[in-house]
Amino acid sequence: DTGQVTYDPGFMNTANAKSAITYIDGDEGVLRYRGYPIDQLAEHSSFLEVAYLLIYGELPTGDQLGEWDQNIRRHTMLHEDLKGFFNGFPRDAHPMPVLSSAVSALSTFYADSLDPFDEEQVHISTIRLMAKLPVIASYAFKKSIGQPMLYPDNSLNLVENFLRQSFGVPAEPYELDPDMVKALDLLLILHADHEQNCSTSTVRLVGSSHANMFASISAGINALYGPLHGGANEAVLNMLRSIKSDGVKPEDFMEKVKNKEDGVKLMGFGHRVYKNYDPRAKIVKQTAHDILGKLGGNDELLDIAMRLEEKALADDYFIERRLYPNVDFYTGLIYKAMGFPEKMFTPLFALGRLPGWIAQWRELIEDPATKIGRPRQVYTGYELRDYPNR
Ligand code: SDX
Repeated sequence: DTGQVTYDPGFMNTANAKSAITYIDGDEGVLRYRGYPIDQLAEHSSFLEVAYLLIYGELPTGDQLGEWDQNIRRHTMLHEDLKGFFNGFPRDAHPMPVLSSAVSALSTFYADSLDPFDEEQVHISTIRLMAKLPVIASYAFKKSIGQPMLYPDNSLNLVENFLRQSFGVPAEPYELDPDMVKALDLLLILHADHEQNCSTSTVRLVGSSHANMFASISAGINALYGPLHGGANEAVLNMLRSIKSDGVKPEDFMEKVKNKEDGVKLMGFGHRVYKNYDPRAKIVKQTAHDILGKLGGNDELLDIAMRLEEKALADDYFIERRLYPNVDFYTGLIYKAMGFPEKMFTPLFALGRLPGWIAQWRELIEDPATKIGRPRQVYTGYELRDYPNR
């Protein structure tokens, strides 16, 4: 008898936020951005249009989309002093801490326009973040491979510029591959928002203290880094590669997972909300073959992934626990086929999720009922005791 208070774990229920941005039905595998089903947006929309929809609540007219695109292009340049910032990191630095630090550092260049309650300042911060995060991500990538950073080319849109800054070199012109642009645009749409997931809840909690947009999103980037969240896409590739290199049969690997050997999990499977197939994973799986066929991806790893999925979906252990592939199960294979190293997979997730974070932060700031986040606890420590006489 430790004298400690025990509690019923059932007490810990999730706090519910009010939001009009994204709707998920975990049992039915439904995802809608501002009421539009994800499969229709994936088929007909673009990442820029979806970002506008999430942040401003309606699909943009042609003129509004054009202005949104132009505004973002005109704000892609980073202050030259910020470029120096990247030299402070070791060459093999993981890009995610570089991203979160650079976003936080970015705010120091705009000290006069960070007021969360000034509409104009929130507008320019929205544009600056949308425009500059892809540049920061490409700079982190270039730094890690010892190549020079390329200035943005504003004749290109956000996705095109990011690909050119990631894979282009000063010595020769960079030719955009339309299939690659289309594939990345689709993946960014699929990641754009997802209700109150771990990183978005972090952005909202930090924002509830009236911290500025940059500080709140920097915190969200750090939350996304975790392998159970955004880091899962990188963990899936590492899992597939180790199965291949160790010559492990997928069915033997599944036994290890079911026996929870060394806490191993089937990365890219399971979800806090979806207890059915993640609709995003369904879309990615449909296009994975098509995209990998065009981009020449590693079919062997795709085959291992398909065999793991096939076995898991037929196995009682997974069925009883309602474990299905989530968005991260197939995306890494496509990013790899595009030429990104694993370390860039989670930054790519962050690029996609940015409009969702911005939309959710703005919604929270605009909600007069918002109070500072102050989660309570269940106390499980000692009851009252007196200091010993000694
Ligand atoms: C994202 O919230 C969001 O919306 C997130 C996201 C977004 O868009 O923002 O969708 C992005 O984060 C997707 C999830 C990416 N993470 C992974 O793929 C990592 C692997 N998945 C697991 O860590 C896990 O499924 C979670 C964390 C995602 C969800 O876990 P849950 O719902 O809390 O389930 P749990 O941990 O309570 O597990 C229930 C049971 C346990 O077994 P028992 O104790 O009952 O015997 O299922 C098992 C778990 O061990 N389990 C798994 C498993 N996930 C859960 N077993 C093997 N492999 C897995 N992946």
